[in-house]
Amino acid sequence: MNLTQNDVAAQLLAECMPDPVATFEAFAPVNIALCKYWGKRNATLNLPVNDSLSVALAGKGSTTRLTRLPNAGGDEVFLNGTAVDAGSRFHKKVVAHIDLFRATVPGFLRVETRNDVATGAGLASSASGFAALTRALSGLYGLQLDDEQLSILARLGSGSACRSIYNGFVRWHKGVRGDGMDSFARPLPESWPELRLGLLTLTGEAKKTGSREGMQRTVDSAILYGSWPEQARRDIARLEHAIVQRDFTLLGSTAEQNAMAMHATMLASWPPLLYWQPESVQALQKVWQLREDGVQVYATMDAGPNVKLLFERASAGDVYAAFPELELIIPFE
Ligand code: PMV
Repeated sequence: MNLTQNDVAAQLLAECMPDPVATFEAFAPVNIALCKYWGKRNATLNLPVNDSLSVALAGKGSTTRLTRLPNAGGDEVFLNGTAVDAGSRFHKKVVAHIDLFRATVPGFLRVETRNDVATGAGLASSASGFAALTRALSGLYGLQLDDEQLSILARLGSGSACRSIYNGFVRWHKGVRGDGMDSFARPLPESWPELRLGLLTLTGEAKKTGSREGMQRTVDSAILYGSWPEQARRDIARLEHAIVQRDFTLLGSTAEQNAMAMHATMLASWPPLLYWQPESVQALQKVWQLREDGVQVYATMDAGPNVKLLFERASAGDVYAAFPELELIIPFE
């Protein structure tokens, strides 16, 4: 049987006793994957082929305020203070996510979302956005869902959103069930106060091919994709080991190789998919030169042209000198 998103939501919400309030605000952080989620085993429910592992960007993400509109004829959506056109993709995605809850608590809402990062430029604003929206819906309706249930519901909006329910290091367990009730994220207990992330926003332009379409094309057409699940398995194990041992070289090298392997599968798709811009290649080459010069810095990239740097506090001065435009993030502040 092909389950719909509504079937899954109805199953999760069946035991809730709603106790709605008038308005509720929630925050969820952006997350950057060190082992990427790339490819779905079920596209309707966003069930992944592989486990993934991320780190949240503390304090950077989406803040979503929901207000119940007793007399309205539809949902009103605002992004960064501007009303979003009801015919737009963004509006439809937000309304579809609210619809998952609407059978439990009817009525329309005003949605006011603010993102701390550029929307649609590979900085995962959809992950923090759907996680914040899911948290806010649960709070507004007084549903008392636990984090694993929130993670499942956020995943229905955007796969990587299931990781944005938590701070710190987070692993998304792919699960094996057809209904995805075992496909949710959990936080790792370890922290890493010395860890630094650097965001290089090379272009804030929205990308042409979204990650949903990009993944599907890769799964459907790239023979090279056959090796991806094995790459992810190895890399998750290495990353967890690196985190427990605080082995930065192992963490950084594994994350960079994982990102390059993911992009290789895209390039091996047909038609080929390349999110990189000339500025992305320049940044990567600078990272590789810095490493040759003895600076421990690594790079990762998602479904967009922007490059994210990984380093430790001790290298921050050298990394800054090479990338003065860098936006510094301390994930475990
Ligand atoms: O959650 P989506 O559909 O936006 O996919 C995210 C895919 C990557 O950002 C490329 C990888 C990841 O694990 O975040």
